[in-house]
Amino acid sequence: MAAKRGVADAPVKGRRVLVRVDFNVPLGPDGSVADDARIVEALPTLQHLRAAGARTILLSHLGRPGGRRDPKFSLRPVARRLGSLLGAPVPIAEDIVGIRAIDLSARLGNGEFLMLENLRFVPGEEANDPAFAAQLAQLGELFVEEAFGTVHRAHASTVGVPKRLPSFAGLLVAREVRELSRLRERPDPPYAVVVGGAKVADKLPLLESFLGRADALLIGGALAHPFLVAQGFRLGATPVEPGLEGSVRSFLDAAKESGTRVVLPSDLVVERPGGGPPVAVALDAVPPDAVSQDIGPATVTAFGRTLADARTVFWNGPLGRAEDPRFASGTRDVLAPLAGRPGYRVAAGGDSGRVARELGVAAAFQFISTGGGASLEYVQGVELPGLAVLPDA
Ligand code: 3PG
Repeated sequence: MAAKRGVADAPVKGRRVLVRVDFNVPLGPDGSVADDARIVEALPTLQHLRAAGARTILLSHLGRPGGRRDPKFSLRPVARRLGSLLGAPVPIAEDIVGIRAIDLSARLGNGEFLMLENLRFVPGEEANDPAFAAQLAQLGELFVEEAFGTVHRAHASTVGVPKRLPSFAGLLVAREVRELSRLRERPDPPYAVVVGGAKVADKLPLLESFLGRADALLIGGALAHPFLVAQGFRLGATPVEPGLEGSVRSFLDAAKESGTRVVLPSDLVVERPGGGPPVAVALDAVPPDAVSQDIGPATVTAFGRTLADARTVFWNGPLGRAEDPRFASGTRDVLAPLAGRPGYRVAAGGDSGRVARELGVAAAFQFISTGGGASLEYVQGVELPGLAVLPDA
């Protein structure tokens, strides 16, 4: 993809700059920010704007409040965390648009920040309502897209506003596009892709997009279960996503023709009700009451062998139920040895970045995307509306 006109070229001094950020971050039980990676990654752009004398108005969503005001989804904790990272106050405009928001944005001084409350409190955001987009655009003179995680959504703040104002890509968006384009356009072979997670129906298009493009596709986690069932294995009491037999079989047939080697688990770590600690079993020896929770050691070795030779690796999704420490070792043991090896490795999509940090394997990757669905769609080659709307450099 051609590079987009970047924020460094934006004439921001003394101007009101609307910056769409993706501060859709997880909150802990006490309501504070539990993982601030997306906020930290936006700091270089925000610091640039402050130093350049912009009057910055931040736009974000948090969660899916469904077009209604709900204090559970307030951006206040996010504004607090951002304020402490920037060492500057980040007040919140409760009124997202209208006279009070206009007034607050007009009173900003050079280098100051204001954050609008959660855009998804207004139904017009997700509907990309032209009237709402026009009201948002009225608050600024320029627009900077820094919400890579949301560029796959055609919403008022991601498409409607940049259509109405001179628009620029933020530093994070530019970096995400540059890094993920390496996977899309010129992965150094051998290219190995590791995909885990749970929802097969959601991930089939992603898996299909690698056929013929990747040299090896390693599938683990609950995602592997329907493929194993399609090959005739019985997985005991493991819940397997229903209704996918046909598409899973066509995928495996297409894989054979594609030149991409699909590698599935050869053993699993299973848990039995009241049956003591989890054990690794071969695929043809899963007890009828056992539930598969992780890939087994033979699979870790097989995946590791393929990855050892790879020059490019893309990883999305844990290979077991990694949120439970008893089932995190498959993912950890596959990824940890990659740190320091030659090659280019990227983690993206869903909670992959957070999982990598929690399992202590972030060093395996040169780049960890802040995008969930956006980065997966980008890697698949889908045109993303929030990028398409930005002018090229
Ligand atoms: C994400 O976390 O993937 C983005 O913030 C987009 O959120 P959404 O899936 O609710 O649109």
